Amino acid sequence: MPIIKILPHAEYCPEGAEISAPAGTSVCEALLDNKINIEHACDMSRACTTCHVIVRQGYNSLNEADEEEEDLLDRAWGLEPQSRLSCQAILAQENLTVEIPKYSLNHAKENH
Ligand code: FES
Repeated sequence: MPIIKILPHAEYCPEGAEISAPAGTSVCEALLDNKINIEHACDMSRACTTCHVIVRQGYNSLNEADEEEEDLLDRAWGLEPQSRLSCQAILAQENLTVEIPKYSLNHAKENH
């Protein structure tokens, strides 16, 4: 099973984490199954951007983002070229390193 390394995030996993999940699982599901409670405001229906992650390693092993995902990502806080909506990024066999951005769009709205 591929291993997902999560870089430390003050709120969700201050120490960072390493989890594994079967190929075919979305990154968001894998995180939630391992008690890393990343936001997923639209319930993984690709209608928000709160599940945004940046894939630091293994990006190319994931399924490709479709146009709707790309459009949504344009609105995400802290967008990077390796950004994905974690509920749409499906694990293959390769290990990943994932960073959860400091803020989501919801946070940004609350704080600014
Ligand atoms: S949970 Fe809303 S787009 Fe992923």
